[in-house]
Amino acid sequence: MSRKTIIAGNWKMNKTPKEAEALLGEVLPKAAGAACEVVVCTPYVDLPTACRVAAGSKVKVGAQNVHFEASGAFTGEISTGMLNELGVAYVIIGHSERREYFAETDETVSKKIGAALAAGILPILCVGESLEQREQNVTSEHIRTQIKVALRNVSAADMPKVVIAYEPIWAIGTGKTATSAQAQEVCQMVRETVKECFDAAVADSVSILYGGSMNAKNAAELLAQPDIDGGLIGGASLKAEDFGKIIAAAG
Ligand code: 13P
Repeated sequence: MSRKTIIAGNWKMNKTPKEAEALLGEVLPKAAGAACEVVVCTPYVDLPTACRVAAGSKVKVGAQNVHFEASGAFTGEISTGMLNELGVAYVIIGHSERREYFAETDETVSKKIGAALAAGILPILCVGESLEQREQNVTSEHIRTQIKVALRNVSAADMPKVVIAYEPIWAIGTGKTATSAQAQEVCQMVRETVKECFDAAVADSVSILYGGSMNAKNAAELLAQPDIDGGLIGGASLKAEDFGKIIAAAG
């Protein structure tokens, strides 16, 4: 298996540009010897600073959203071209907070993935079920639909550039992590779905991350699961010490 292990921080709506510079300054030495890919996804206004500070280091910079159109009358939105010019390598697409609070749908997610790939920016597609969906036993159905619609227009040749993050909504920011068995079960199902959409070789090459209260203590066990190739980390990515421990746990 040649897929990449990725530890990605999602800073969400935290850190001003000055604070971003300070945090990234602390993260860089912790990532210097990392065997895995390390990514920090910062707020838009922090991206120029983050790209400048991270240049030449092991750390790649990501955005947390992007619009699918190249330009135009879309007040408040940011295009792939704008991210490209800064040197942004990754973009989170379809995070559950975007879906819940900003009307993101599987349709817009699909368009955004197409736009990111066309621009050479690696999309981190987020999928995951609510507590209600888990209790109703529709987790698998829900996530399979999210993936199938999101990847509908992606070619097999582009698939190795797509990262998928499984983030159970009930585990995000709650301190309530999925057990490693629960996380593995869904990540395996995600890989199976990619196999159905493409083939076994494509499914094998896709990096699948777990996200949801991953921290310095539980990271090693989650990352040891065969279908978990990394983490998308919220709260713990805001503390360099903890994020460094998660990077170390990824080997
Ligand atoms: P927490 O790690 O804070 O639970 O957030 C996870 C997440 O949503 C990452 O995208």
